[in-house]
Amino acid sequence: MSEHAITLDLNQKSVHVTVAADAFLVDVLRDKLALMGTKYACGMGECGACTVLLDDEPVFACLVLAVETEGRRVITVEGLGANGALHPLQRTFADRGAVQCGFCTPGMLVSAAALLARDPHPDEPRIRAALSGNLCRCTGYTKIVEAVQAAAELG
Ligand code: FES
Ligand code: FES
Repeated sequence: MSEHAITLDLNQKSVHVTVAADAFLVDVLRDKLALMGTKYACGMGECGACTVLLDDEPVFACLVLAVETEGRRVITVEGLGANGALHPLQRTFADRGAVQCGFCTPGMLVSAAALLARDPHPDEPRIRAALSGNLCRCTGYTKIVEAVQAAAELG
């Protein structure tokens, strides 16, 4: 399989990486760029564990070819915070017991961050709709929704 040199804006930094034409973004993030926050589970766009932002929109990194990110902006869970501080969602997820095993958490955080960026004060149905592509086997979702509401209140 041919290799391609690509440049993308990853977590606010310009990154150059060589990828196979058929390499998925989740694998490049984890295996080539050591960003292990993005999780791999189903590999089929069913669970949301691999969610990242591509030009500010949540996408499943297991379905996006790395070459598609050439010249585009990617944010992973590692890039959600600013200036070394946690994103408010990262604080409220921890404070509100929205994290159990944690496997879904990076994808949840990324989807929730995208929601709050476009809709700073979502009601519960909108939160649940925004997180509907992210599966959690542990929490029953209630504490996750509460954590998103608490982050929205922090502004
Ligand atoms: S690993 Fe990508 S959606 Fe499940
Ligand atoms: S906290 Fe375990 S899958 Fe969500």
